[in-house]
Amino acid sequence: MINKNPKVREQLVYGVTSAGSPRKVARIWQKKCPTIQHFHVAPALYLARKVVESNCDGLVVTGIEGGGHQSYEQISTLVLEQQAVREFPDTPLVVCGGFASPEGVAMGLAGGADAVAMGTRFIATDQSEFHENYKDLIYPASARDTLLTTGAFGPIRLLKNKYSLEHGKILSKEQKIAQEEGFSVEELEEEMERYELVYNGDVENGAVLVGQTVGLIQDAMDVDDILSTFIKKAEELLKETVAKIQ
Ligand SMILES: Cc1cc2nc3c(=O)[nH]c(=O)nc-3n(C[C@H](O)[C@H](O)[C@H](O)COP(=O)(O)O)c2cc1C
Repeated sequence: MINKNPKVREQLVYGVTSAGSPRKVARIWQKKCPTIQHFHVAPALYLARKVVESNCDGLVVTGIEGGGHQSYEQISTLVLEQQAVREFPDTPLVVCGGFASPEGVAMGLAGGADAVAMGTRFIATDQSEFHENYKDLIYPASARDTLLTTGAFGPIRLLKNKYSLEHGKILSKEQKIAQEEGFSVEELEEEMERYELVYNGDVENGAVLVGQTVGLIQDAMDVDDILSTFIKKAEELLKETVAKIQ
């Protein structure tokens, strides 16, 4: 798709892959689109090592406080960032999971990352195509209103609702594999349907993927405003930080 569409090809600078080993995808990427920077997501240090060993252009570390599918490792973004900065000082690093404010951007950059990525914050924007019912649940929610449960592909962070509270059972990796092997086609379809329901507005019976960052988001924002105000405020905070330690 990228190679066939010259406009996409021209505008696309970075691409991110996640879930699973980066080795194979890095090989294909380097062959098919060598001009586009390839970053791969890692939720633990030993997996970050594989990203670097696979010669990806950059690394995204994402911690357990983030929204949506997570890993079995359950490491926080805070710890992952410190580990990655120490071990891979020359690898471009994006931190992700738990950021939705200028303070968060300042923290991520002060910690040594090259960039901060946000998921839930961008769902709650004027430009996001998520259903209004979905966005409306984000603003009043507190950081305590999410839970980590077992989703279609392993651990997942969801907003507490009828679906996640009834369905919410944490399974080990082995139990999840056994569950998947035992699934009938109908059960698998039913599971996948829960992820579709919310896009049509059924936010009670469907899976509402959000991070603990819901506790930081009070209203919808314009994407341009997020970028400009977060950058400006983060810069001020970083300058104040430097002044504090001098
Ligand atoms: C609705 C939703 C869908 C997501 N889908 C994916 C996905 O398909 N692949 C993936 O690697 N991460 C996915 N994520 C995780 C995000 O890429 C990111 O790690 C997470 O949103 C960061 O946490 P934050 O929401 O607190 O910013 C999703 C997150 C959300 C909230």
